[in-house]
Amino acid sequence: MSEALPFDEKYSDGLQRYIDYYNKSVEDIEEFWDGRARELIWIRYWDQVLDRSNPPFYRWFVGGYTNINLNALDRWVGKSSENKVAYYWIGEDDSKRTISYGELYREVNRFAYVLKEYIGVSRGDTVTIYLPMIPELPISMLALTRLGAIHSVVFSGFSSGALADRIVDAKSKVVITADGFYRRGNIVNLKDRVDEAILDAGEKGVDVEKVIVVKRLDGNIKMHLNRDIWYHELLSEAPNKVYVKPAEMKAIDTLFILYTSGTTGKPKGIMHSIGGYMTYIYNVFRWNWDPSPEDIYWCAADIGWITGHTYIVYAPLMHNMTSIMYEGAPDHPKPDRIWRIIEEYSVSTFYTSPTLLRLLMKYGDKWVENIDLSSLKILGTVGEPINPEVWRWYFNKIGGGRCPIVDTWWQTETGAAMISPAPGLSLVPLKPGSATLPLPGIVADVVREDGGKAEPGEKGYLVIKEPWPGMLMGLWGDPARYIEVYWSRYSDQDRGVWIYYPADYALRDGDGYFWMLGRADEVLKVAGHRIGTIELEDAIISHPAVSEAAVVGFPDPVKGELPVAVVTLKMGVEPSEELADEIKDYVRKFIGPIATPKKVIFVSKLPKTRSGKIMRRIIISMLQGKPIGDVSTLEDPKAVEELEEAIEGMRHTF
Ligand code: PRX
Repeated sequence: MSEALPFDEKYSDGLQRYIDYYNKSVEDIEEFWDGRARELIWIRYWDQVLDRSNPPFYRWFVGGYTNINLNALDRWVGKSSENKVAYYWIGEDDSKRTISYGELYREVNRFAYVLKEYIGVSRGDTVTIYLPMIPELPISMLALTRLGAIHSVVFSGFSSGALADRIVDAKSKVVITADGFYRRGNIVNLKDRVDEAILDAGEKGVDVEKVIVVKRLDGNIKMHLNRDIWYHELLSEAPNKVYVKPAEMKAIDTLFILYTSGTTGKPKGIMHSIGGYMTYIYNVFRWNWDPSPEDIYWCAADIGWITGHTYIVYAPLMHNMTSIMYEGAPDHPKPDRIWRIIEEYSVSTFYTSPTLLRLLMKYGDKWVENIDLSSLKILGTVGEPINPEVWRWYFNKIGGGRCPIVDTWWQTETGAAMISPAPGLSLVPLKPGSATLPLPGIVADVVREDGGKAEPGEKGYLVIKEPWPGMLMGLWGDPARYIEVYWSRYSDQDRGVWIYYPADYALRDGDGYFWMLGRADEVLKVAGHRIGTIELEDAIISHPAVSEAAVVGFPDPVKGELPVAVVTLKMGVEPSEELADEIKDYVRKFIGPIATPKKVIFVSKLPKTRSGKIMRRIIISMLQGKPIGDVSTLEDPKAVEELEEAIEGMRHTF
């Protein structure tokens, strides 16, 4: 675990330089971030870097005004940087588009114009975007933020039910979507799901008035009169070179909402601010990727998640980078798709998830062997802990032993990476499987259950002890939950001590390096995506045959973990294979394919405590074939015996 890899001269002395810079950054974080924010374009500078008067509702750059468009787009037009490619877009069907900064700027202006003039979108409105990985997705985000509207992007793999919940919570009157897209050679009919979601949302009291539909496929879909409008027809109403002045937004205004799963059935609307988010991601991007103008950068995430918001849309544009944007599945039509794109476009920086690496590693080295990956300079990972053997494969086989692996720990809530190597600043020696050390300005630590400092090597809980500009501003419409979820566990509110709790296990080794050890709450990480167990249970319970359900994570060699559901049925309903499949299908329809349970196990009683709490810990141990530990609080030991038998009976199928 303490193995440190040697680095070439470019990075020698990295640790000492990092320590010096880091120590200075945290001596006075306000002064530090003040300097970092001045590298950006503001309409008006702030009066106060950080307002701490109402914790944990910290406010960054108070009194400042800006618009993120000024930094992501307007900054690059009217000079040679306008001709630089912003996106090389590759469809799964191999169709291609190349979009320069100038073209992106013009289309964003035109779309902003029609959104304002014809759809009536204005400052502060919330608009839901439900689009696949096509250029109109970043275009929509930028057009909305140009007007000062708030976007809520919903991952295109989510079901209509999940979309409806998010439309209702955000109270969106406008939805931007597409007729469909390609996935593994099949057509996904996105618009059908939107139609269903709108009906659903209407029943819950939110009426969507306008749906803007991008034509990605043949456009052969049902359009609702007076409600649905084609994107290209709408855009044709805009003058060619129209200019829409970016709305003068307060730094503390909301840039976007992005829903993520928590420990209740209701997803949380994470709110990010304009000035703080922009400042944070701009700096972290530079520290992570050491960007230079000739780089071809590829973050292979979906923009529907925070990684895509930050690392495909806003931060690379703020650095005038050229990015790859790929629509499809990573192994379609063959497992070498990703490597072929890297070769064809001479990608220099590649950022992905451990799940994808495990999948591609499993296909075997023959898919990489004859491909020229010599353009690569830096490799990154995000979303889950990376196993050391996968790290080494990535480092040696993909990076040819030349490219640092930038393992970035962060969350939807944090805006951008928090703990990770920083080759753009000063690269510290790497250790396979460790996210290394906190980025400048980030005060992180590991504590015990009781809040005391954990010893080196001792597993505890990760905490962040100072606010940072990329932090969430709160939860949409639910300030109490914001305090409770993130700021209650280790804060001492009476003494004015506020500590951010990310709900991750971690340890620090003798060198102070952080090792992330997975979620410490009831949230699963399936293929790097966050799914709440209660959300899954709610979906299962809504099946008419089901009485109760308990969902836990089961380790999976590729996806990290997969949901397994233990289910009791209503009186008179018999368990069957067909019913198990039906329940799986139900979850798929309720949340989306990523949430599909691996197994459904039927029992007559769930293991519960005498106070009625489901003992998930026992289910997890049994599934893993481990001792189940203390069962003295169990309500009925027979429940455990029955479950054990059920699991053993199907063990061969896992
Ligand atoms: O458990 C941590 C894990 O992903 C969680 C955040 O998930 P989400 O908000 O969906 O954001 C994912 C992309 C930023 C964290 O609480 N996680 C993220 N990155 C890492 C990680 N675990 C270990 N190592 C990482 N590099």
